[in-house]
Amino acid sequence: FASASGATDAFLGCLAAAGVPPRLVQTPASPSYDALLLSPVRNLRYVAPGTPRPVAIVAAAEPAHAQAAVRCGRRHGVRLRVRSGGHDYEGLSYASLDGRERFAVLDLAAFREVRVDAARGEAWAGSGATLGEVYYAVGAASRALAFPAGICPTVGVGGHLSGGGFGTLMRRYGLAADNVLDAVLVDADGRLLNRTTMGEDLFWAIRGGGGESFGTVLSWKLRLVPVPETVTVFTVRRSRSQSASDLITKWQEIAPALPRDLILRVVVQSNDAQFEAMFLGRCTRLLDHMRAHFPDLGVTQADCEEISWVRSTVYFAFYSSSKPLELLLDRTGETGRYVKAKSDYVQEPIPWHVWESTWSWLEKPEAGLLILDPYGGRMGSISPSETPFPHRKGNLYNLQYYSYWFENGTAAMEKRMSWVRGLYNEMEPYVSKNPRTGYVNYRDLDLGTNELEGNVTSYAKAKVWGEKYFKGNFERLAAVKAMVDPDDFFRNEQSIPPLPSAK
Ligand code: FDA
Repeated sequence: FASASGATDAFLGCLAAAGVPPRLVQTPASPSYDALLLSPVRNLRYVAPGTPRPVAIVAAAEPAHAQAAVRCGRRHGVRLRVRSGGHDYEGLSYASLDGRERFAVLDLAAFREVRVDAARGEAWAGSGATLGEVYYAVGAASRALAFPAGICPTVGVGGHLSGGGFGTLMRRYGLAADNVLDAVLVDADGRLLNRTTMGEDLFWAIRGGGGESFGTVLSWKLRLVPVPETVTVFTVRRSRSQSASDLITKWQEIAPALPRDLILRVVVQSNDAQFEAMFLGRCTRLLDHMRAHFPDLGVTQADCEEISWVRSTVYFAFYSSSKPLELLLDRTGETGRYVKAKSDYVQEPIPWHVWESTWSWLEKPEAGLLILDPYGGRMGSISPSETPFPHRKGNLYNLQYYSYWFENGTAAMEKRMSWVRGLYNEMEPYVSKNPRTGYVNYRDLDLGTNELEGNVTSYAKAKVWGEKYFKGNFERLAAVKAMVDPDDFFRNEQSIPPLPSAK
């Protein structure tokens, strides 16, 4: 075996020989290494002193650089952590929890071109583009087109589409991953493949099977969806003393059954429930729906704002529609935070008394927040095996437990983490069971992490967490993995293991 530094030197030499310019490869000795490593990081938990750091960051600028990183990494025993937007909740795109692993970050931030063909209703987006950059480009091309994806504009296209991706258009058009038409990927042999050359099994796996496992996706062809030139949004807040528990209890049955042009999500924090809506149409019609389905919420004309769809993305990201659209292009976003999140799917309404007792959790000084995203509509009519994302019909909503904090140190971390874990444990009787499911893009290493069996990650061990994210699709994902990356080059703490051949 080569020594650690010998292997790293050989990897760097291989990159240079393959034509990757040295200025695109930063090592810990380079002055800009720290800035490059840390700039997109959204969770400081995984850059604390002592966390193993990459031996190099390869800031690929063209497909050949990414191909070289894969070939050289494989040849010289350096694994790759692929990073697009860097928003992974458990830092898996830039950190490794296994101190023995030698790894480099393959940073795709330069793959951020978004090309919109409004006439065809399609676009190509680089993995390193942010959702905000996609929304901005689509909005600039047409007021009548949109792309259905998540709410935070600094989330990267690469990780988001790899794990599903839901936001305000999901009840009408499904996930971001449901609207991918083609993709360009570097496979474990360093080949550049598209949908035709990768084949339908691999194309299925990369649209929701989670990032990292199957290759490095460089760009995605998106189906844009029609939206009216004017949509309506509102945010109304009801406190605990304004019957918030009653409203949330009713919301659980109402929101997933609303017309699919309407999404009504809830953010519960401190002693308030904030109801946030987007309707693909005008205020008058929205108010008709609210009166018919949820009169108790008491929404009035004064609550409505009629805006373009692209402006609605600014509204949901910054709680104001008057902020400049150019904020969508700001890649900096919120940094300097420590984050822990977990998620559940709710299939039966949680009883009123449980919501009532949840306030005591939410009013604690170390409390985080809950985000309730209703499914139903289009989400309920796509088969659970159509993509690896299985949480379709029968799920009322996704429940996210989210905590962030700014204080450094273990005491602050333990307090916040125990809040998230404690409330999650308390909710167990009321959420999906056998398995208790979660959303892979709300990555949660508490569910389990990979263990090695020989030279590859163990399928049997990974089932514990894998079936929580993917249910019955997990085995097919593992079969695709065995076909395209049997040596398990692309791996991390929660990558898909290859299905053993005896299975
Ligand atoms: P990042 O670059 O960290 O990658 C995530 C994972 O995918 C890593 O394992 C990485 O190795 C792998 N990966 C990245 N690029 C890849 C590529 N090109 N090819 C192969 N593998 C790749 N979700 C949602 O559905 N709706 C929402 O509204 C939100 N909102 C939201 C807000 C905030 C503040 C955060 C931090 C997160 C969300 N999310 C979300 C979750 C988000 O969708 C999830 O974290 C994505 O994986 C982030 O994608 P990035 O490219 O930014 O992550």
